[in-house]
Amino acid sequence: MPEFQSLPGFRDFYPEDFAARAHIFAAWREASRRFGFEEYDGPPLEPLELYIEKSGEEIVGQLYTFEDRGGRHVALRPEMTPTLARMAGSRARGLPKPLRWFSLPQLFRYERTQRGRLREHFQWNADIVGEAGVGADAEILAVGLEALRLLGLTAEDIVARVNDRRLLERLLRAAGVPQNGLAATYAAVDKLGREPAGRIRERLTREAGLNAAIAQCVLDIFETPELEQLAERHAAVPGVPEEVDRLREYFRTLDDLGFREMTAFDARIVRGLAYYTGIVFEIFDRRGELRAVCGGGRYDQLLGAVSVMDLPAAGFGMGDVVLRELLAERGKLPEYSPKVDYYLVAIGDAEQHEMLRLAERLRANGHSVVYALRSASVGRQFKEAAGRGARRAVVLGPEEMRAGVVLVRDMASGAEERVPPATLLGGVAS
Ligand code: HAM
Repeated sequence: MPEFQSLPGFRDFYPEDFAARAHIFAAWREASRRFGFEEYDGPPLEPLELYIEKSGEEIVGQLYTFEDRGGRHVALRPEMTPTLARMAGSRARGLPKPLRWFSLPQLFRYERTQRGRLREHFQWNADIVGEAGVGADAEILAVGLEALRLLGLTAEDIVARVNDRRLLERLLRAAGVPQNGLAATYAAVDKLGREPAGRIRERLTREAGLNAAIAQCVLDIFETPELEQLAERHAAVPGVPEEVDRLREYFRTLDDLGFREMTAFDARIVRGLAYYTGIVFEIFDRRGELRAVCGGGRYDQLLGAVSVMDLPAAGFGMGDVVLRELLAERGKLPEYSPKVDYYLVAIGDAEQHEMLRLAERLRANGHSVVYALRSASVGRQFKEAAGRGARRAVVLGPEEMRAGVVLVRDMASGAEERVPPATLLGGVAS
C-alpha cells in the first residue's frame, strides 16, 4: 500500500498545530469583537469571472480553476475581497452603514511554495464598507494591530508600513510618469529594497517605458523616507499638501487609539493587488526577516465593479502562516498542553456502572471527563489521567461506594480528599 501524503503546500493540522491555529483565531475573533465587527462567510468556490481583472495579474496566475460538470468556469477563492464586495454590495442597501464585517476563510493560491508561502492559508479579513473618510482607514489598521497586541506582540516586534496611492500617484505624475505607465511603475516601486538598484532602474525604463531622466526623478522620490520631509520637498506639487494632511490625520487617529508606535510612513508600499485606490499598508516583523503578516488598504471602486452598489471600502487580510512563524520565533505561542477537568478511576468492574453515571452527570454540568474505555489496572488509569492532563482524578472503589463518597486527587499537588459525588457537580471546574 502506498503511504499517502498531503499535497505540497497543504497542511495537516495535528492537535498541537490546531491548538496554535485556534489560539490565533481566538485573537482575531476577540479583536473583531472589541471593534464591533460581525462575522460572515461566503462560498469557497466562486465564478472565475469574479477574480479576472478584479484581483490583478499575480493572483489570477495562481488560481486553482476548472470547469465544473455544468460547464461553469469556477475558481477556489484565492482571496476574500471580491466575495465580500459581491456580498456587501447585494445587501448593503438595506443595512445601516458603514458595515464592519470580518471573516476567517481558507484561501487557495497555486504559489511556488516556500517559507511563509503555501498553497492554502487562513486569512483574517476585516473590512469597513460604506465610509470614505480617513477615520475608517485608521480604524481598519487599529483592529489588525489590536489582534497582534492580543497575541503578545509589541512595537518592537512588528510595524505597519503605510502609504497612500493617491499621494504616490501625484508624486509620480509630477515626476513625469504618464498615466498608462503608473501600473508598471508601481510594480517597480514594490520591489525597491528587495531587488538590486540596477534591476529597478531596468524595470522603470523597460517595463514602465520611462526615459532615464524620469526614472531618476522617480527614484529620487524615495530618497526622503519621512512624510514631513517629503511634504516639504514636494509642497509645490498640486494635491500633495492635501494628501499629506489626510495622512497626518490618519496617524493622529492611530496615536489616539494607542497604535502610533506600531506604524510608520513608507512611500514604497504600493500593494500588489489591482483594486487599491487610497491608503495602503503592510504589517511586517520589525527585523524584516519574514514576509508580510498582513496587507490591506482602501478600495473604493471594487463594489461598483462587482455589484449594483457603488460603495467605498477599506480592509485587510492577515494570514496565519507568517503570523504563526513570527509568534513561534518570539516565543509567543502557548505551550501545547491538552487538559481535562476529571479523569475517573474505577478500582474494579463493580464500580464501572457508578463511574459511568458520575461521568454523565459531570458532563451534563459542563465538565470535561475522561475514563478508561476498557478495564485497566489502577496504575494504568492514573498514568492515562496524567497523560491526558487531568486536573483531578476521581477514584471510585468499594470502600468509597460503601461510604457514599469518592476520592478526589488534585493531580498537580497530589492532595486527596473524600467527598460525596454531589459536591463535584457545582460549577464548571476551572
Ligand atoms: P494579500 O496581500 O494577497 O491581500 O494577502 C494578505 C496576507 O495573507 C499576506 O500578507 C500574507 O500574510 C497572507 N498570504 C497571502 N498569500 C499567502 C500564501 N500563499 N501563503 C501564506 N500566506 C499568504 C489580500 O488577499 C487582500 N484581499 C486583503 C484585503 C482585504 N484587502 C482589503 N481587504
